[in-house]
Formats: sequence, structure tokens, C-alpha cells
Amino acid sequence: MIDIYTKPKLYDAIHQNYSWDKDLITLLAKDIGGPVLELAAGTGRLTSLFLDLGLEYTGIDLSSEFLSVANKKYGNHATFIQGDMCQFELKKQFKFIFIGFNSFLHNLTDDDARQCLQSIQNHLMNDGTFLVSIFKPDPSFLYREKGKLYPATSLFDFEGKQCRIMETNDFNDETHVNHLTWRLERDGNLETEEYQFKMRMFYPHVMDILLSDSGLRIKEKMGDYDGSPMDEESGMQIYVCEKT
Ligand SMILES: C[S@@+](CC[C@H](N)C(=O)[O-])C[C@H]1O[C@@H](n2cnc3c(N)ncnc32)[C@H](O)[C@@H]1O
Repeated sequence: MIDIYTKPKLYDAIHQNYSWDKDLITLLAKDIGGPVLELAAGTGRLTSLFLDLGLEYTGIDLSSEFLSVANKKYGNHATFIQGDMCQFELKKQFKFIFIGFNSFLHNLTDDDARQCLQSIQNHLMNDGTFLVSIFKPDPSFLYREKGKLYPATSLFDFEGKQCRIMETNDFNDETHVNHLTWRLERDGNLETEEYQFKMRMFYPHVMDILLSDSGLRIKEKMGDYDGSPMDEESGMQIYVCEKT
């Protein structure tokens, strides 16, 4: 099994056209200002949004491979730090802290999530804003047939071939951890390498408790990046918070 977060070229190829979160993040950043801290910043997919606005940007990520790509792209203008979002100490506070694209789900236990939110609270300015965006647990996805391969992406170009990701998942309904395995299909041929990652599912009522216990008051809940409010039909949970 290969950790997907050691393969930045593949990750970037998969997400080369992924931009549906950019408008909302840009709108908020314009309004809130900097300095900005992104947790689980990856290969810096969103970094240029802040640099283009002239905002000071710091990104934290666990993966040295991803950070090396981020540094090559933006290292002269932004700061990237290798660290764990559950426990970081930067001796600095930020006006805008965010963790997007489901990365909060890499906190696999309540303890991890609480530590992560506490570290965020410690680094948020008194008049600062925190945003977290994750998808809502979806039973039709979590309880799919075990071992069966489902398409996880549409077609994308990688190393000159038309590719897509096929995935299986195994959801543990006691721990609420979903174990995902990805395989690359290249020009229609399924490769043998298996890439894996795990995501803990958080229900909206659990997010309410975790955020409020960490001293973060929810100002706005959205159900999508188009800004629509969160309801039972929404696929996403997006929380905009301030310090209590
Ligand atoms: C879905 S990717 C998102 C990357 C980037 N934010 C984006 O929007 O493209 C998740 C990221 O979380 C990082 N990650 C996973 N666990 C982490 C942890 N405990 N602390 C910091 N980063 C972590 C991975 O290395 C990966 O870059």
C-alpha cells in the first residue's frame, strides 16, 4: 500500500481542474485579510489565491513530498512548514485560518480533532476567522459494496495518458473511519499499485460540539461552496467561525 500523500505529481494531476472552492475562499480572504494560515496545505493548490491578493500566507502539511512541490511553486513568496495539524506551535497569530477540501477528516479520533481545533484557537487573532470545510457523511457512499471498484474521478491527463481513479472503501461504523483504497486506470488499464488514505466521518451535530468546546463560535454554516445554507440535502458542511 502506498500513502497517496507521497505522490504529489499524481495528486496534482487528479486535481488540476479542481476549482469549485476557489471563489468562496477568495471572497472570504478579500474580506478578512491576512496573515493567512492554511492547515493541510498540500502542494499549495490554493496558495496563489492569497498571494494574488497581496496577503501573507503560511501553509502547514505533514507530507515532505507535497511541501517540496509547494516550495518549488511558491517558496519565494510564501512560508511552508512541515507539521501536524493536531499539534503545532508557530508563536504567531493569524487573521484567517482555514482547513479546506476535507482535510479535517484526517483527524481520525475525537482527541485529534479537539487538539487540532485547540491549536487553531490558540493561533487565531481575537478578531480572526476560521473556516473548515468537509463533506457530510453519505450512507450511499460509506456502505457501498465492499471490495467493489467505483470510479472516484472523471478522466484526467497524467504522464500523457487518459487516467481515472478507481476506488474501494471500507467504513468502520464503530470508529467512523472510512478506509479508502485507490487504483490508477491508465488508458483503460487498471494498474496494480494501491494508494490508501483514511478519513473519519464527522456528523454536523458532532462538529457543533467540537467547535464550541474549542472556544469557536459558528457564525455561518454553508452546505456548498456556492454559499447556500446547510440543510438535509447538502453534500458539504462548511463552517465559518470566530473566537468566543
Ligand atoms: C485532500 S489533501 C488537501 C491538500 C490541499 N489543502 C488542497 O486543497 O489541495 C489533504 C492533505 O492533508 C495532509 N495531511 C494529512 N494528515 C495531516 C496532518 N495530521 N497534519 C497536517 N497535514 C496533514 C496531507 O499530506 C494532504 O496534503
